[in-house]
Amino acid sequence: MTGLALRGLGRRFGTVEAVKDVDLELKEGEFVSLLGPSGCGKTTTLRMIAGFIEPNAGTIELGGKVISSPSASLPPEKRGMSMIFQSYAIWPNMTVFENVAFGLKLRRLGREEIRRRVGEILDIVQLGDLADRYPAELSGGQQQRVALARAVVIRPAVLLLDEPLSNLDANLREEMRFEIRRMHDELKITTVYVTHDQSEAMVTSDRIAVMNKGRIEQVDPPVELYMRPRTRFVASFIGRTNFLEAKRERDVLVFDGFSVPVSALAIPLADGNAVTVSVRPHALDLSAQQPAANGRIVLEGKIARRAFLGDTWNYLFAPAGNGAALIVSAAPHKVIEDGAPAWLTIDPGQLVPIA
Ligand SMILES: Nc1ncnc2c1ncn2[C@@H]1O[C@H](COP(=O)(O)OP(=O)(O)O)[C@@H](O)[C@H]1O
Ligand SMILES: [Mg+2]
Repeated sequence: MTGLALRGLGRRFGTVEAVKDVDLELKEGEFVSLLGPSGCGKTTTLRMIAGFIEPNAGTIELGGKVISSPSASLPPEKRGMSMIFQSYAIWPNMTVFENVAFGLKLRRLGREEIRRRVGEILDIVQLGDLADRYPAELSGGQQQRVALARAVVIRPAVLLLDEPLSNLDANLREEMRFEIRRMHDELKITTVYVTHDQSEAMVTSDRIAVMNKGRIEQVDPPVELYMRPRTRFVASFIGRTNFLEAKRERDVLVFDGFSVPVSALAIPLADGNAVTVSVRPHALDLSAQQPAANGRIVLEGKIARRAFLGDTWNYLFAPAGNGAALIVSAAPHKVIEDGAPAWLTIDPGQLVPIA
C-alpha cells in the first residue's frame, strides 16, 4: 500500500505562510495535480513530500506510516520517491541507456536485470531506438522523456513532478501532457504533479487540487472542478466565467432584472441570503431575435463588444437596465453585429452557486 496522505500540513518561511493546513489523500496509483498561480505554495508542498523541506505543522504519511512531522522526518533518499524539476538535468556525458540505468546500478542490480528494466522503460517512453544516443543528439522532448524514464525506472513509490514541461515549446508541451498520462496508465505510479497550467492538469490528472495562498480550495476530478467550482477563485482559475450576485428571498434568488427558484439551480444552495453564482460563457445562449422562453430566463439587451476568435465568437452582452454585462461564447456561425439588440437566454440549471 503506497497511498500518500498530507494531514494539516503547514510551512512558514519567516512571516510568510507558504503552505497552510493542507489535507490531501492520494490512493495508490492515483495521479493528482497541485494547480495554482505562482507563489501559492505548490513547490513547497511538493518539497515537503519529497523530504527536502520540513513541515512546521501536520504530517505526511506514506503507506500508513508517518514519514514527516515537525518532530521527525525520514530523509529524502529513504522515501522511495523520484522527483523531476523544471530543469531536468540529464547527464550529457552518458548515453540514454546509461542515464536511465544509473539509478539501478546504484542499487546494485545485476547486468541482465538492468538491461531488461531499462529496455522496458525506454519502450514505454518511445526511446527504444535511441538508447545509444547522447543527450546532445536528442530533441528537447526526447531529453524530457529520458528524465521521465530515469525517474520511473527505479519503480518509486511516488513520482513527484514540478512544472516538468515549462521549458518546452508550446506544441511539445501539449504532446508531452498526453505522454505523461499514457506513461501513468502503463506504470500506475502514485503521482503528484505541480503546474500553474490548467490544461496540463486537466489532461494528466485523476484529480486536481486547486491551491490559493497556501491553501487547497478544492480537490476534484477535472470535469467536476469545471462544472461545480465551489469558490470564486476556483471558478475563475479553471476556465473563464461570469459571476452574478443575487439575494435570497425564501425559495427564490433575486438577481438584477430576473429571478430564479432556488430549486432550479445546478446544485443545492447553502444557507445565507447573499449568493454568488457562476455561469460559463458557453453555457449562455444569444439570439438576434427574441426567443421563446420555455422555462428559461430571457434578458433583453445589446452587444457591447465582440471579438472573433476563430473557433468561437466572444460577445459581451449588456442587459437593458442595471444588470452586469456577461461574456458569452458562441459558435462561429452565430453572428450578431456590434451594438445590435440581442437576447440572452439563461438555463437556470447552468447557474452554479459558489461560496
Ligand atoms: N526558501 C524560502 N524562503 C522564503 N520564502 C520562500 C521560500 N520558498 C518559498 N517561499 C515563499 O513561499 C511562497 C510559496 O512559494 P512556492 O511554494 O515556491 O510557490 P509556487 O511553487 O506555487 O510558485 C512564496 O511566497 C515564496 O516566496
Ligand atoms: Mg513552484
